[in-house]
Amino acid sequence: MTVQLDKISGGYGDTLIHRELSLSVAAGEVVAIVGRNGTGKTTLARLITGELPLAGGVIRLGDRPIRPLAAWGRARAGVVSMPQTGMVFDTLSVHENLLLSGATPAQIAAITRHFPRLAERMTQTAGSMSGGERKILGFARAMLMPGTALVLDEPSEGVQPENIARMQALIDAKRQAGTAVLLLEQNISMILAVADRVLAMDVGGLTFALEKHQINREAVLSALEI
Ligand SMILES: Nc1ncnc2c1ncn2[C@@H]1O[C@H](COP(=O)(O)OP(=O)(O)O)[C@@H](O)[C@H]1O
Ligand SMILES: [Mg+2]
Repeated sequence: MTVQLDKISGGYGDTLIHRELSLSVAAGEVVAIVGRNGTGKTTLARLITGELPLAGGVIRLGDRPIRPLAAWGRARAGVVSMPQTGMVFDTLSVHENLLLSGATPAQIAAITRHFPRLAERMTQTAGSMSGGERKILGFARAMLMPGTALVLDEPSEGVQPENIARMQALIDAKRQAGTAVLLLEQNISMILAVADRVLAMDVGGLTFALEKHQINREAVLSALEI
């Protein structure tokens, strides 16, 4: 389902990080937002999931505004998010973390075939794993949750290249299933591998867009250097 942000504003208290930001992600499209640290990627993810309140504007999923919904309501409406931090329950085992996504045992078995590290650590607590492994667990949870829109906040951070490649294949599968994917990233390889459109974010907002045929290493790098 299309996710549409219509002139949304928001931030922390009186400090607006985003002002009248508009963008839309179509069903079956992967839009990457690329920007240096501190440009507002995570804040944007939090505004979409409802973790932070909107100071203005409307977010629509399909035709339906989701603004009035609290975070759990947005999840029920179909907005799945992998936050940059705090995406796993440290005191629970890997298996319990995966179960909390609501997935069936067969779905859990299928996702752990993509990530053997998780299969090996099913009974370990998430808190005992490395940062990269916890990222993979958070990503796996996001993949298991049913939704029509998916927000991924720097999924590749601290993750080994072979697992980044597996993430890319799973993002591609979500695209093919018709999910609208918003990927907030700094990893150029991942962006080049999966993005249908790239938007550059700088402090103060989105600065330029690259359509599919314009996406290449140099152009994405220039988005990171602004
Ligand atoms: N909890 C917070 N309270 C106040 N300001 C914050 C908070 N979190 C982030 N910021 C500020 O918001 C801006 C955008 O940060 P963030 O959205 O985390 O950027 P990015 O994810 O692109 O690195 C930065 O100036 C940051 O200092
Ligand atoms: Mg961030």
